Amino acid sequence: MTDEIEIRRLSPTDVREQLDGLAAVLHDCVAGGASVGYMAPFSLDDAIAAFEGFAADVEQGRRLILAAFADGELVGTAQVILALMPNQPHRGEIAKVLVHRSARGRGVASQLMERAEEEARAEGKTLLVLDAVTGGDAARLYDRLGWTTVGVVPNFALYPDGRPCDTTYFWKAL
Ligand SMILES: CC(C)(COP(=O)(O)OP(=O)(O)OC[C@H]1O[C@@H](n2cnc3c(N)ncnc32)[C@H](O)[C@@H]1OP(=O)(O)O)[C@@H](O)C(=O)NCCC(=O)NCCS
Repeated sequence: MTDEIEIRRLSPTDVREQLDGLAAVLHDCVAGGASVGYMAPFSLDDAIAAFEGFAADVEQGRRLILAAFADGELVGTAQVILALMPNQPHRGEIAKVLVHRSARGRGVASQLMERAEEEARAEGKTLLVLDAVTGGDAARLYDRLGWTTVGVVPNFALYPDGRPCDTTYFWKAL
C-alpha cells in the first residue's frame, strides 16, 4: 500500500492551504493519547493555532514541514527544525511526526522520515536529533530506521490526560 503515498515538502503557501488537513492530523493524534506537546482538552481550533505558529517559522525558513498524502488526502506530517543556536548550524531537530490513526501501519511515517533526512541533508545538516516517548510506536520506528539511542529521561513530559511519560533521545548522522 506504500506506493499510494506521496510525500511533499510544503511551501509557506502550501502550509496555509493545507492548514485544515495538518490540524486534523494533529488533533487526531492528541485525541488518540499521543504525547506531542499538548494537553486535553485539545480542540481542532487549538490544532489550527499550533500549525499557524509553525507556518510562521516555515515562512522565515526556520522549520520545514512535510506532508504525506494518500489518494490526495493529507494523512501524515513531519517537521525539521532548521534554526537552532548559532553554534549548531549543522544540526536539525525532527519534530511533530504525526500520522492519522486511520492511516497507520502502512509506512507513512517511515516515508516521511526518509524524506525528512533527505531534506535536512539538502539544507546542509549533518546531524539530526529527536525525542520520543520511551517504548512507544515512534521509538520503535526510529530504532528500525537506524537512529542511535542516547538514553531515557524519566518523567520528561505528560500524556494529554496528565499521566507522566519517559522520553528517549535519539540521534542520527547524515
Ligand atoms: C509513531 C507514528 C508516527 C508511526 O506512524 P506509521 O505511519 O504508523 O508508521 P509506519 O507505518 O512507518 O510504521 C508502523 C508499523 O507499521 C509497519 N509497516 C510499515 N510499512 C508497512 C506496510 N507497508 N505494511 C504493513 N506494515 C507496515 C512497520 O513495520 C511498523 O511496525 P511496528 O509497529 O511493529 O514497529 C504514529 O503511530 C503516530 O502518529 N503516533 C502518534 C504521534 C506520535 O507519537 N508521534 C511521534 C512523536 S516523536
